[in-house]
Amino acid sequence: MLGNFTYCNPTKLYFGRDALNGLNEELPKYGKNVLLVYGGGSIKKNGIYDKVVAILKANGKEIFEDGGVMPNPTSDKLEEGVRRAEAANADLILAVGGGSVCDYAKAVSVSVNCGGDPWEKYFIRFEEPTCKIIPVGCVLTMVGTGSEMNGGSVITNHAQKLKIGHVFGENVFPKFSVMNPEFTFTLPKYQMIAGIYDIMSHILEQYFSGTDDNTSDYIMEGLLRSLIHSANIAVKDPTDYEARSNIMWTATWALNTLVAKGKTTDWMVHMLGQAVAAHTDATHGMTLAAVSLPYYRFIMDSGLDKFARYAVNVWHVDPKGKTAKQTAQEGLAEMEKWMISIGLVMNITELGATEEMLDGIVKSTLVMDGGYKILNAVDIRAVLLASY
Ligand code: NZQ
Ligand code: ZN
Repeated sequence: MLGNFTYCNPTKLYFGRDALNGLNEELPKYGKNVLLVYGGGSIKKNGIYDKVVAILKANGKEIFEDGGVMPNPTSDKLEEGVRRAEAANADLILAVGGGSVCDYAKAVSVSVNCGGDPWEKYFIRFEEPTCKIIPVGCVLTMVGTGSEMNGGSVITNHAQKLKIGHVFGENVFPKFSVMNPEFTFTLPKYQMIAGIYDIMSHILEQYFSGTDDNTSDYIMEGLLRSLIHSANIAVKDPTDYEARSNIMWTATWALNTLVAKGKTTDWMVHMLGQAVAAHTDATHGMTLAAVSLPYYRFIMDSGLDKFARYAVNVWHVDPKGKTAKQTAQEGLAEMEKWMISIGLVMNITELGATEEMLDGIVKSTLVMDGGYKILNAVDIRAVLLASY
C-alpha cells in the first residue's frame, strides 16, 4: 500500500539542444550580482563558460567567480565559497558543472546568511536552514546525481574522514536547471560510465526496500530498462544524442523525489560508497559500483521476492522451473556481466582502498534502516571485504 505523502518539485527545467536560452528567461527574475560557480576548468575547455558568460553579460549581470570546485567538494572549499558569496553580495548562484558543483552551490546558498560552521550545522547536526537562502540555478554538464532537480548536497570533510549528504527541502532545490545533452559529450568515458551507474544505484536504492505493490516500483523498472538500453548505445558511441538525452532524463527522474514517494527506501550502497570515498576520494559512481554486488548478495535472502522480481522484469530472467533464489541469483549475475561489459570498477582496491583503511571505512559508514537487512559493523566489514 502506498503510504501518505506530499509531492512538489519546484525546479523548472529547460531541456534539449537550445536549453541554454532558458537563461534569458530566468536571469531577469534575479538581482544584478551573480556568483558563477564551476569546477576545475572543463567548462573553459569545451566553450560552455564563454556561452554562459555571454548570456550573463547580455542580461546586464555583474559576474563574480568561484571556480575550482573539486569532485567530492570539501568543507574547506565550502567555507571559501561562503566568503566569496558574501563578498559578492550574491543575488543568484549559478552552478555550471556536475553534481559536485550543484551540490556545493546549494551548500553555499544555505550557509551565507546562517552564520556558524556549515559543516557542523548541516552535515553533522542535520539542521534545516532558518535564514535567507540564496537562489541557485544550474547548468548541468555531467549526468548522474540528479542534483539538478533535488535538494541533495554532499560534502566531504577530509580531516574527519567523513562524506555526508544532507537532503534539503524544496526551498533549497535549484530554481531552474538547464539540461543540454550535448554539454555532456566532452565527458571522459570514465565519468560518463560512473554517472550511468550512479543513476542505476539511485533507482536500486529506492527499489530494494519494502514489499508493497506500488506504482513507484513499476516506474523504476521502466527507468532501469531505458537506462540499460541507452547506456549500451552510449558506451559504443558517446555522441549518440538519443542515448545521451535519454540517460540525462532518466538521471533526473531517478532522484528528483518522485519514485520514493509512498514507499520505504534503503540507501545503504550510498553509505558504503561514501565511506570508501571519504578515505580514497574516488569517483562517486565507481564507489557505488564496487560495493553494490557484494552488498546485494549479502542481503538478497532477506528480500528474495524483490530480487527475483528485479531479475525477471529488468534482466529478463526466465523464472520457469527455478526457485526464487535461483532467479534472484541469475538476475544479479546478469547485472554483474553488464557492469563489467560497460567498464565499471568492480572492487574498491582499484579505487585506492587498502587493507589498512578497512577499519576506518567501517567506522565511516553510516547505517540506514530502510533496506531488507540492517547491517552491523561485522556485516559492513564482510561486505567491504568481498569488494577487495
Ligand atoms: O571539475 P571539472 O573540470 O568541471 O571536471 C569535472 C570533474 O572532474 C568533469 N566534468 C563535468 N562535466 C564535464 C566534465 N568534463 C568534461 N566535460 C564535461 N561536460 O567530471 C568530473 C566529475 O564531476 P562531478 O561534478 O564531481 O561528478 P558528479 O556529477 O558525479 O557529482 C559527484 C558529486 O555529487 C554527489 C557525489 O557524492 C559527489 O560528491 N552526489 C550528489 C547527489 C545529490 N545531489 O542528490 C546524490 C548522489 O548520490 C551523489 O552523492
Ligand atoms: Zn549517487
